[in-house]
Amino acid sequence: MKKDIVDLQDKLQALLLIQQDNYTQGKVADYIPALANVKPDLVGISVATIDGKVVGAGEYQRSFSIQSISKVFGLVMAMNRIGDSLWQRVRMEPSGQPFNSIIQLEWEKGIPRNPVINAGAILVSDVLTSHFSASKLAFITFVRKLAGNDNIRVDNDVYQSELTHGNGNAALAYLMKSFGNIEAEIPEVLSHYFTQCSIAMSCQQLAKSLLFLANKGVDPITQKTICTARDAHRVNAILSTSGMYDQSGEFAFSVGLPAKSGVGGGVIAVVPGYGVICTWSPPLNSFGNSVVGMNLVASVAEELGLSIYH
Ligand code: DON
Repeated sequence: MKKDIVDLQDKLQALLLIQQDNYTQGKVADYIPALANVKPDLVGISVATIDGKVVGAGEYQRSFSIQSISKVFGLVMAMNRIGDSLWQRVRMEPSGQPFNSIIQLEWEKGIPRNPVINAGAILVSDVLTSHFSASKLAFITFVRKLAGNDNIRVDNDVYQSELTHGNGNAALAYLMKSFGNIEAEIPEVLSHYFTQCSIAMSCQQLAKSLLFLANKGVDPITQKTICTARDAHRVNAILSTSGMYDQSGEFAFSVGLPAKSGVGGGVIAVVPGYGVICTWSPPLNSFGNSVVGMNLVASVAEELGLSIYH
């Protein structure tokens, strides 16, 4: 049963306390050195509902690096821009591999398994780079509009750090280019990809900005159509099967919500017809998913009976 949002504020606070012993379990990402500067024991949670309410606890208003959560925004923009032709260049299957794996990409001739692993998001970045005259500006403008906040920014330290240490992503991009699946110049594509990963947002802003996915593509606050109902369904389907990478099966099994993680420690989970949960806790497990973030989403979903499989 979905409970009243007023009770929820206290509930979120209580759930944070229950997790307190786990705050530093896992490891803060350091393969992008700028991410390692974050304090590991910062924790936040926010829930936004489609009737316009937003509650939160802990550091839910503090900005963090959204990293792979940006893949959700990029996918929606690319679907809107080029329609079904996107699905000739990227598939919609779980990869069963780490998010940055290159092995499968060669076997599968430069066609990424899905748009939320790194290869898929780089492909999406190529679509945006090729179809917008200023794709980075278009991206941040899209995100700012969704969050209703013009102060959302790219964290330049994180961006520079990704650029300097992003050789694995460059390898994915060049391999796709060698198969003819990247149109624009690689430095431009990577610059777009690293820019979107380096955006800093809070749990509250992320939860609000993704409400359209819980509301058949329509932003419930502005009543603007962000994408078609069919595309909202498709994004949620991809998040259900691939959003938590090689832990997506376990997440569906135990929680039952479309979700996306980022190596900055964020997790978003969409509850169709209800709202969006966003959690943040930097230490990650071996799959690159936030340990406490996943626990918190699981607890909220359990408490409120939010699984889509009920
Ligand atoms: O490209 C990367 O590796 C990072 N900028 C994003 C990866 C990420 O967030 C994976 N999520 N769990």
